[in-house]
Amino acid sequence: MQSSNIPIYQKTDFKKMQKAGRLAAYILDQLYKLIQPGISTLEINDFCHDLIVKNKAIPAPLNYKGFPKSVCTSVNHVVCHGIPNDKKILNIGDIINVDVTVILDGWYGDSSRMFVAGKTNKKNLDLLKTTYECLHIGIKEAQPGKTLGDIGFKIQEYAESKNYSVVRDFCGHGIGKQFHTPPSVLHYGTKGEGTKLKAGMFFTIEPMINIGDWQVKILNDGWTAVTKDKSLSAQFEHTIGITEDGNEIFTLSENNTDFPINDL
Ligand code: MF3
Ligand code: CO
Ligand code: CO
Repeated sequence: MQSSNIPIYQKTDFKKMQKAGRLAAYILDQLYKLIQPGISTLEINDFCHDLIVKNKAIPAPLNYKGFPKSVCTSVNHVVCHGIPNDKKILNIGDIINVDVTVILDGWYGDSSRMFVAGKTNKKNLDLLKTTYECLHIGIKEAQPGKTLGDIGFKIQEYAESKNYSVVRDFCGHGIGKQFHTPPSVLHYGTKGEGTKLKAGMFFTIEPMINIGDWQVKILNDGWTAVTKDKSLSAQFEHTIGITEDGNEIFTLSENNTDFPINDL
């Protein structure tokens, strides 16, 4: 399955991806304090933009295919690609995904996490926790000899065992010196199917999990993806590299954190 299109990177490239990835993680680490009821998604965007630039990096989303801002901010039933806006003010209990992609020395680090404005309810927290688990279940499958289908299968199996649904219209992607390359990394699928994983492949895993149905629609701004049934949606994302004996997560913080959800 088209595995010939998939770039294979060298050992020395892992260090460069780790540098970019850790910067994305560092930016996300700073948001736990910032994200509170009353803040606008534009303020979150501007904070990230300034910090990325201060660290000699470029916010990859800005002007990417016409995207107008530096990060994506996706609140409640927004699945992904929410556009930061000064009118969108967080209320207590809102859940928000902030998706940060930096370009550092030409290499892309892409990661997103969920945050809570103040406190939220148990139902929402279970969605966040399950989505985080889906990401790490997928990462655990990402090993040489396994397939992309193995990753999607495990994520789907776990999400559906909790009666959630997996978004079909968006997927993870190859990444490196470009934002989006082959392969497409689906978060649903069949064991043993699809491209075989090999050391030196770099890609993201970024499951979007809904409380209701998986169907989404795009708003008139051409970007914002929302659930058709208005049910809540969550997403976590890491950029990883396949190694000889497993994988390396590039977008972990230096202190190895990726889930101090601020309401847990
Ligand atoms: N960071 C997103 C991803 O995970 C892509 C955002 S593209 C943008 O692939 F244009 F919306 F920023
Ligand atoms: Co991505
Ligand atoms: Co992303």
